[in-house]
Amino acid sequence: MSRRITASTRLAAVIGDPVRHSLSPALHNAAYASAALDWMMVAIPAAAGTGSAMVDLVRCHDLGGLAVTMPLKSEVADAVDRLDPAAAALRSVNTVVADPDGPLGMSTDGDGFVASLRSAGHEPSGARVVVLGAGAAARSIVDALGRAGVASLAIHNRTASAASEAAGLAAQAITVDEVGLVQACAAADIIVNTTSVGMGAADASGDMPLGPELLSREHVVADIVYHPLATPLLVAARSVGADVVDGLGMLVHQAALQCLAWTGVEVDTAAMRAAAEAELASRHR
Ligand code: ATR
Repeated sequence: MSRRITASTRLAAVIGDPVRHSLSPALHNAAYASAALDWMMVAIPAAAGTGSAMVDLVRCHDLGGLAVTMPLKSEVADAVDRLDPAAAALRSVNTVVADPDGPLGMSTDGDGFVASLRSAGHEPSGARVVVLGAGAAARSIVDALGRAGVASLAIHNRTASAASEAAGLAAQAITVDEVGLVQACAAADIIVNTTSVGMGAADASGDMPLGPELLSREHVVADIVYHPLATPLLVAARSVGADVVDGLGMLVHQAALQCLAWTGVEVDTAAMRAAAEAELASRHR
């Protein structure tokens, strides 16, 4: 069925460089279709230095919203009028909302991760969590898990200084070395991989961000890598009977939070996930 696009159709855009690989248009357009929202999303290549001009499309030209990717997340944080608490803590924006008081910058990545855990039936409040990695994604997840009320948060990263910096984002967070990681995993309810280890792995024998002997059936194991969906870490976790949450969870739920911020509508995450899976399958055939 073809869509009716009129002069009142609202336009959202995902911006960044590169951006033609983004799954955001597939995710968002599926959400708009499932909720019968008169919106559409396109990808606009936008190089470093153009973030302020892109925010002006929201400010001056009634663009409905921006999804912001690399390399614009921090310059867009400087260009918007206000930041939500997550974006302010991270000094990074992945979402610009057209607000009557001026463009609002948000960061939905971490809350999207928390929502993906909850939608899989795992409540982070009160949980003991291990976070592997300390890059941009880890920082958003640490911030959100802190606000979600985890009991403890142990961060392990190849580069210790980055782990210390990320630990500053949540009062419950500490950093752990290799020895501390063993103890933290033994006590953990949830283990999250935010490193790129496992990305592009051809089969389950690929690299893992921690030793498989640290996994048990008591764990919930989440990976934010979504190519492949069954990362070596998640395959190993499943094999010991752990519950797993794959990388499409965060991607889908951060987009659903963007959609809610722009349209006020809670969209169908199952339809979004199906669209993302179909898009990924068409690319990797
Ligand atoms: P993202 O935006 O996805 O978070 P990033 O900011 O580049 O990406 O962070 C990548 C993370 O993966 C970092 O924690 C990085 O560790 P370093 O801080 O030591 O660089 C981690 N990482 C990448 N390759 C890795 C590898 N081969 N082994 C362990 N950690 C790795």
